[in-house]
Order: sequence, then structure tokens, then C-alpha cells
Amino acid sequence: MERIAVVTGADRGLGLALAVGLLARGWRVFAGQYLPEWPELGELAASYPRLLHIIPMDVGDTVSVQAAADGIAAVVDGVDLLVNNAGVNSHTSTRGIREPQDYVEMQRLYNVNALGPMRVVEAFLPLMEQGQMKRLCFVSSEAGSINRAQRTAWFGYCSSKAALNMAVRLLFNRLRPQGYTFRLYHPGWMRSYMGGTRNTTADLEPEEAAIPALAYFLRERGHDPHVPTRSDEERLVLRDYQGIEWPW
Ligand SMILES: NC(=O)c1ccc[n+]([C@@H]2O[C@H](COP(=O)([O-])OP(=O)(O)OC[C@H]3O[C@@H](n4cnc5c(N)ncnc54)[C@H](OP(=O)(O)O)[C@@H]3O)[C@@H](O)[C@H]2O)c1
Repeated sequence: MERIAVVTGADRGLGLALAVGLLARGWRVFAGQYLPEWPELGELAASYPRLLHIIPMDVGDTVSVQAAADGIAAVVDGVDLLVNNAGVNSHTSTRGIREPQDYVEMQRLYNVNALGPMRVVEAFLPLMEQGQMKRLCFVSSEAGSINRAQRTAWFGYCSSKAALNMAVRLLFNRLRPQGYTFRLYHPGWMRSYMGGTRNTTADLEPEEAAIPALAYFLRERGHDPHVPTRSDEERLVLRDYQGIEWPW
């Protein structure tokens, strides 16, 4: 049986690596493309011409997200796995409170990181209803944990991820009783492009980070420490790439 996934923000970084991992497992993947200038998705399509579909999608724009959902609905009847990966940070995030704050940038971060996944779930729910797996995944961050917050800046990014966590909780309350399962995840500190240029000092390549991420996103309950237990499945948990649970 063909399994179908949608991954947002799949141009580069973790989203691209997740798309690669799903394709390698035989999944049909609709990869959300934000900026068409990056060559990676086009190159990947050459290797997987039947399984990979490149879909323009700006998660910060309701019309764009709905157009993406409509485009996918024209090709398939249902979606099994929805991976909300797209996210942004800003070069102005490091400004402390004694520096001028960039509220326009903060609103952009909030619009993409917190409201983006909500838009995507809203638009794709009809397709998810027709899918078998009904799994909703959200790439959040340790930065969204209020309890463990150590930073003294990054107002927009941290607040947007905390807001995402709350939005996912509300979705969980509504959709878990209807058969949906959830993964809320911190992927680790990655050598990706979030800062605008590629971070070369972080802990993990996106390809490395995608391995535990996909294991967590795809597997059913089991004995693997990275796999949610029964009680995990019945409550919403923020877990990281090492299987550690983070406080809200
Ligand atoms: N990097 C880390 O250490 C880290 C840590 C914790 C959590 N995360 C989270 O991990 C996720 C993936 O980030 P990453 O590190 O892989 O960063 P990345 O390399 O910048 O990848 C983010 C992806 O999202 C896309 N994107 C940006 N704005 C978008 C929009 N409005 N609509 C749709 N797609 C958009 C980007 O497209 P373009 O490349 O075309 O701009 C890119 O493909 C994010 O949610 C991030 O918050 C990252």
C-alpha cells in the first residue's frame, strides 16, 4: 500500500533530509518548496521522479497553503503523514531588551513558526481524514520550553515555538480522540540555514538529525526509547532527538 507524506520547508536543512529519508523508505512525498532557487529538491526529483512531488508552499500565507493542499488533493485521495518542519529565525533575534527590538521580524517568526503549522493542519485536515496513519508531526524546539529557558534574548523565536507548543496541545485535545497521533519534537542543534547562512559549528548535520526524527515520527509504540510509550501517545509530549522529554 502506498504511503503518502507532506513535508513543509523541504528546500534545505532538516526538511530536505526528512524528504530524502521518506523517499528512501518508499514513501510518496509532497515536498513543500519555499524558495525555488535552491537546486536540492530538483536534483532529488531526478532520482525519484515517481515518488517526489515538489509543491510550492509558503506556510506564512493562507492562500499559498490552501493552494498547496488543493494541488495535492488533485493528485491523491489522502495523506498519511504531515510533517510541519518549516521554520525561521532572524539575525535580529539576539538583540537584548536594552537594544531596539525588531517587532516586524518577531511577527514574521510568529507567523511562520506558530501560525504556519496551524494553517497547514487546517488546510490538510480533509486529506488527513482520508489517510490511514493520521499522524501529525511538528518540529518545535527546546527554545520553546518556558521551564528550561536560559536565554536572555531570542524573544521572537522562543515565543513562537512556545506558542506552537500550545497550538499543538489544542489540536491534540481535539484530534487525538478522533484517531490522530502526534509527534512534537526538538531535533537538536543542526548545521542548517536558519541563521541565513549555514551554521558550521552546531552539533548535527541535518542528515544525522533526520535519522532519530524519522524513527520517532514513523514508528508505532514499542520498546525503543525513542518511540513513544502508550502513555506518551495519550498525552502530548515534547521529546528531543535523544528521546528525552522536555518540560513545557
Ligand atoms: N537548526 C537548529 O539547530 C534547530 C534547532 C531546533 C529546532 N529547529 C527547527 O527545525 C526546523 C527546520 O529548520 P532547519 O534547521 O532545517 O533550518 P533551515 O535549513 O533554514 O530549513 C528551514 C526550511 O523552512 C523553509 N522556510 C522558511 N520560511 C518558510 C515559509 N514561510 N514557508 C515554508 N517554508 C519556509 C526554508 O526555506 P528556504 O531555505 O528556501 O528559506 C527551509 O527549507 C525549523 O522548524 C526549526 O525551527 C532547528
